Amino acid sequence: MLSRRGLLKIGAASITVLGVGSVAWWNTRSPTAAYAPWAIAGKSFGDPRLDALAYAILVPNPHNRQPWKVALNDDLGLSLYCDLERRLPDTDPFDRQITIGLGCFLEALRMAAANKGYSLKVNAFPEGEPDSRLDQRPIAQVEFIKGDEIKDPLFEQMLFRHTHRFDFDTSREIAPDVFQQLLSSVGAKGSIAPTLRDTLREQTWSAMKIELTTPRTVTESALLTRFGKQEIIANPDGLSMTGPAFELMNKVGFLTQESMMNPNSSAMQSGFASIKARMSTAMGYVWLDSDNNSRTAQLNAGKQWLRLHLKATELGLAMQPLSQALQEFPEMQGSYQQLHSLLDVAAPARLQMLGRIGYATFEGPSPRWPLETIFIRA
Ligand SMILES: Cc1cc2nc3c(=O)[nH]c(=O)nc-3n(C[C@H](O)[C@H](O)[C@H](O)COP(=O)(O)O)c2cc1C
Repeated sequence: MLSRRGLLKIGAASITVLGVGSVAWWNTRSPTAAYAPWAIAGKSFGDPRLDALAYAILVPNPHNRQPWKVALNDDLGLSLYCDLERRLPDTDPFDRQITIGLGCFLEALRMAAANKGYSLKVNAFPEGEPDSRLDQRPIAQVEFIKGDEIKDPLFEQMLFRHTHRFDFDTSREIAPDVFQQLLSSVGAKGSIAPTLRDTLREQTWSAMKIELTTPRTVTESALLTRFGKQEIIANPDGLSMTGPAFELMNKVGFLTQESMMNPNSSAMQSGFASIKARMSTAMGYVWLDSDNNSRTAQLNAGKQWLRLHLKATELGLAMQPLSQALQEFPEMQGSYQQLHSLLDVAAPARLQMLGRIGYATFEGPSPRWPLETIFIRA
């Protein structure tokens, strides 16, 4: 049995252990089935909608909830719905982030369809925009039209884009011309200036601490955390803790859903320190704002964010969204206001996405539900 001290050491070192050193172990412990959708994308299903959907399910989406449901219509149409059970009511009380994820989905669908020579006619919110929460009305109706649609160069990056939650290489600055190329590709904003970077490192950590110490919001995340192979295979969504260190810490009861909900637990105390240290390796920040907060603006932010992340991937950069200070639950209000005023975004405009960026070693994809699970009857 490991001592508590030993476990704390593992906790602090787990991030390193999860890197290249654990490849042999990883091969035997990796929940391969949960990653199969990454290998299936690119296969031909004999229906351009399925070919495109196989890519769309790989997009970034909050807490990897994969909230998409699709009804195939006659001919070459489909309707996209939100699975209302897959929302995040505590951290995302107005379903804003979930809608952004659905915007990412639509953009990937468009890019993958173009890769096969189809253009998309997208009718967003055909039965009207939902107000404070999403409802059972469709997010979009989509028609595939055969033509000579031009391939999108960023499509090539679709299988290589992953969210990076670990350290960035602090010895490697992002060159101003590379950063400018990234921002201008989608009209995003950002900064690599050391002073603002330091302020944002502090600001994003303090918002993260609020989310992790507010009982309802940390509970939402804890209940969606999957520890190890069996749990990830059973539920290939949420936040995955994979690899030997996390499995061991979970097995001995050090890091569990319960300990995550207790800010005074040893697991969370060492967790806070390691999350803060990782966040302090950010080499720059990128953000998207919108003139208003309509559902259409949120979908558009998703489209833009996916493209930004794909462009970063093309440029060899890694990214992690940091959404905490943008969240609308009451305890976050102070951080929300501070960040908006720091980045000079005044209502009715608002920040839709913020992320940290830098160079980093690839850490691997996140799991996905199989393609066949997304279909419903209209
Ligand atoms: C609207 C939105 C908000 C997100 N917020 C965060 C965040 O605060 N922290 C984080 O680590 N990842 C965040 N993500 C990334 C998702 O967790 C990630 O896309 C998902 O787990 C799937 O992993 P992948 O991007 O590696 O495929 C966000 C993604 C979206 C679209």
